[in-house]
Parts: sequence; structure tokens; C-alpha cells
Amino acid sequence: MCGIFAYLGPRKNAAEFVIHGLTKLEYRGYDSWGVAYDEGIKLGIYRQIGKISDYDPVKTKFPESTMALGHSRWATHGGVTVANAHPHTNSDSTIAIVHNGIIENFDELKKELVDKGYVFKSQTDSEVIAHLINEYCKTMDFEKAAKEAMKRFEGRYAVLAMKAGERKIIAARRGSPLIVGIGNNEYFVASDIPAFLEYTRKVMYLDDNQLVVLNNGTHFFDITTGKPVEKRVVEINWKTESAEKGNFAHFMIKEIMEQKDTIYRAINQEDSEIEKIAEEIKKAYGTFLIGCGTAGKVCLAAEYIFAKVAKRHVNVVVGSEFPSHQDFLKEKSLVIAVSQSGETADTLEAIEVAKKKKSKVLSIVNVEGSTMDRESDYSLHIKAGPEKAVASTKATTSQIAILTLLAYACDGRLQEGKTLLIDTAGKINDMLNPRYEEHIHALAEKIQHHESMYVIGKAVNYAIALEAAIKLQEVSYIHAEGFAGGELKHGPIALISEGTPCIVLVSNGDTRTDILNNAREVKARGGFIIGVAPQNEEVFDYWIKVPDVGIASPIVNIIPIQLLAYHLAVLRQNNPDMPRNLAKSVTVK
Ligand code: AGP
Ligand code: GLU
Repeated sequence: MCGIFAYLGPRKNAAEFVIHGLTKLEYRGYDSWGVAYDEGIKLGIYRQIGKISDYDPVKTKFPESTMALGHSRWATHGGVTVANAHPHTNSDSTIAIVHNGIIENFDELKKELVDKGYVFKSQTDSEVIAHLINEYCKTMDFEKAAKEAMKRFEGRYAVLAMKAGERKIIAARRGSPLIVGIGNNEYFVASDIPAFLEYTRKVMYLDDNQLVVLNNGTHFFDITTGKPVEKRVVEINWKTESAEKGNFAHFMIKEIMEQKDTIYRAINQEDSEIEKIAEEIKKAYGTFLIGCGTAGKVCLAAEYIFAKVAKRHVNVVVGSEFPSHQDFLKEKSLVIAVSQSGETADTLEAIEVAKKKKSKVLSIVNVEGSTMDRESDYSLHIKAGPEKAVASTKATTSQIAILTLLAYACDGRLQEGKTLLIDTAGKINDMLNPRYEEHIHALAEKIQHHESMYVIGKAVNYAIALEAAIKLQEVSYIHAEGFAGGELKHGPIALISEGTPCIVLVSNGDTRTDILNNAREVKARGGFIIGVAPQNEEVFDYWIKVPDVGIASPIVNIIPIQLLAYHLAVLRQNNPDMPRNLAKSVTVK
């Protein structure tokens, strides 16, 4: 989690420059932030609680500086206080570090440093980094000291370090993402590309267990052996505008609306590539679909789609639980990791487990060049463009579209799958019009003060009911739960009282009668029935029309819920792009 960014170059406003870059990463963490800048014999440090986007450049000015590093935090160790905000420093503030992740052996290192007389100013795990570098600096230069210190940290981390008066940024990566940007005689290093996308498209990726020294060039090393490593510059083709809000009030609504195009982009894949992967699925001794949060619900939807379309069973496991399934893995097993960011720690750990067992790994990711993209045997890009709102929307539907295509390809019906998805994409374009949004806004106004709501679905729409609940929880903060329609009578129906909103996801076909009967059971107990369905049904109190697209119904059924969640968030005065307690990329376990 957290965004980190550093600059070294000729610009004289390094502190402001880093703050500006960090605002582009704020989706990664936003409880507090800070920046350290080189003033020659000492470092200037500025830290604040709250969102970096609230920083006012007119009120707070920084002295001239050409080297700075900064952080926007998602706390793991220690509360949200100025003292715990990064950067952290050594005792005389000549060394500053920012850290993403968790130093798992910080307790042990802290004891060692306290015994040597070090005084800690924060409750974070991160502060040990600054003091340990300081300790090694007693007998070696800063670069060597930082390299020695990095060897000792356990856990997943990305760290940036600098020392007053030394023209050098040291960046180390074990598990958490770090990318170097190469400008014109200037260098950037960040946890994600949008921080420097305005200035360069030339990047160099740090792999795990690598460290880079940025001074008047880039020098990469292996952390464990200390040996230099060769790296190449990669040209990325992201557009700056696609990472900006444009005329939209929030990224979330912009990204929902982009679904007019993103399904087309997702399915615009080489047939031969899809067919090759379908062959891998067919010959695998067990296919495991892995994802976390929304991506996990996409996997569950895919389980139903594969069963229906390809008559094939795939196993679905959430990332954090996957290590407990490793006994089933064989060399011929196939693990398919689904992720927007390609950086989710629990999914990455699942990939590590699969690789240890020599199973094949396919990633379905949005962020090209992400760790999953680079560490998998194959990867498919969903091509949704940058997704910045914490709540996933366009990446979700693109992932479902690709998995649907794969299911059709497994049954030798790739073109039929493509036709269905192109038709679905066209219908989404018609659906996302201002009148439709107004109809959903009116519903949000009606239900905004409820404390709880429920979502039910059957078969593939059961997975979507679970995803719908995540969307509603994340941004509206209303208690929401998803259930398989048939499960309600086994317990949860006790929660229904007069007026409780219950969203019913319906698709035409063999599940329609059953789910409508479940809706009637809720209605009989006073529930307010919101139907998401191709046609109005007598049981609905409020109908949201969706196109009739058969097995692609999960794609169209989740979109109105995304809109509902967004409008509820705005009505309840929540920031839908940065919901409380969450971060976009969950890079800690
Ligand atoms: C989605 O709305 C959530 N923010 C979250 O569940 C997310 O899907 C999950 O953390 C996985 O992220 P990934 O797709 O980047 O791996
Ligand atoms: N573990 C560190 C802290 O709690 C870093 C968290 C982060 O990645 O933002 O400060």
C-alpha cells in the first residue's frame, strides 16, 4: 500500500515536485503524508495528517532543493499521527527513508538498536530502517551502509533512502513495487508510473531483491549478493489523460462510464493467444483461479461461466487462502491469477507457492509491467487503462469478459464468444446514458438512510451479488451483504424487516423462476425489492433495466450497482475515490 516517490535532477523545487507526483499516487494510501528534501548539510522534513491533495502550495513554501523523497501512508504499524507519518529519519535528521510494506523483523532490529542507545520517535516498523543505515554509516559510506541494511530486513518492502549532501537516492525492492523513470538528466522512482507519467515514458522495473542507486545514472544491484545487474529501459505507451479525471467529478464515475469502450478493448486479443491459453487450461491437471476482493468474485463468476460454457470445472481460491491448497498442486496444474494492479501481496504469494510447486502460472492483469505480469509464464492484459478509484469497476467487467472468452475458446467456440461480448459491449454503450444514471440516482436518494441492504443472485449472479456487496460497502459505508438467493431461508432472512432494501439480480434462463421466488420470500417479510433484470417483474418495487445478454449477464448486472454505490457515496458525502481505511493496491499480507 502507500505511494512513494523520489526525484533527483536539475529542478530546484524538488519538494513541491515530489508532492505533486504523490498526489497522482494518493489512491494507494491517504491517511497521512510527508516529504524530505536535501538542504545540503541537513534534510528538511515536512509531514502532515490527512490527504496530500489538501496541501496548499500557496500557504506552504519549501526552500530550493534538487533531491527529495515522499510518501503517502496507509498505516500498518502505529496510529495515524504526524510522528508516525513518513519520511522517518535518524537522530540528527541527516538520513531520511520512506517505506512501503512491513518490516517483519522490526522488533528484533529495534531491540538491537535501542541497546546501542538509539531513541525511537515513532511506533512504526519503518523507523528501524533509518537508524540501521545510520549505524552502518559509522564504518562505511552511505551507499554501502544502505546496501548492508537492506539485506537485514525481512518481509515485503519497498524503501527509498537519501542522505543530506550526498547526491544519491537508494531504492530497494523486496515484494512491493518500484519503478524508475528516466527523464532528461533527471531520475524518478515511484511505486507506480502515474507519479512521473507527465515527464517521461522511459521506465526501468526493479525486480524482487534488487536495489538501484540513482545519481548521475542508474546502477542496479542484487540485494543479497551485492553484484551489479543489467537492466533495460522499457518504453510504456500510457496516455497522460487516461490517468486524469477530466471533466468528471470523480475517478469512480469516469471509470464506470469508460465501460462503454473497455469491454471492446479487453476482447481485442489475438485469437491465437486466446486459443493457446485455452489449450493450457484443457491439458492442465486442475486449474485454480486466484484473486482477492473483487478479483476473487470475478474468479467465482468464471467458475460458473466455465461450467456452463465449457463444461469444465475450475477451482476458485482467494489469494490469502491459496497456500493452504498447495498440497493439491502438481507440475501439470495451472494457476490463473486475476488482478487489476498485478501487485496484490496475497495473490503474489499464491503465485510464489505455485512456482515452488513448478505449476504453470497465467496472469490476467491490467497493469502492464506489474510484478504478476512479469513473474508469470503467460499473461493476458485486460487493457482497461489506469484504474485509480479504489473501488474497481472497469477492470472487473474486463476481467469477466476475458474469462468468458477463454471459456468459449475451451469449447472451440471462440468466435461465438466474441460475437456475444461485442453485442454486450454495444448494449452497455446504449445503457450508460444520462437518463439511466438519473434513474439510479433517484433510487440512491430513496435508500440512502438505510443501515443495511442485501443483494441476492443465483448461479453466476450469486458471484455478482457478492461483488455488488463489496462495491456498496466500500464507498457507501452502508452495511451490505450478498447471498445466493436459495441461502436466505437458511438464516439471513431473519434480518429482513419492513423496508429493508434487497437487490435481486436476475437473468433470463433456467435460474429466473427460482430467484424471483426468493425475491417473493423477501417481499413477504416487508423487504423493498430492487430488481436488476431484463424485464419488469410483478415482485419488483423498483426496476433497473439491463440488457438480456445470456451468460454475459454478470457484466451488465454489476454496472448499475457500481452506479448505485457511487451515487450513495456522493449523497452520503463520502469520497468515492478514496474510501476510508482502504487503499488501491494491497501490497501487505
Ligand atoms: C475492489 O473494489 C477492491 N478495492 C479490492 O477488493 C480489490 O479488488 C482487491 O484488493 C484486489 O486488487 P487487485 O485486483 O489489484 O489484485
Ligand atoms: N508499515 C509502515 C507504516 O505503518 C508503512 C505502511 C505503508 O506501506 O504505508 O508506517
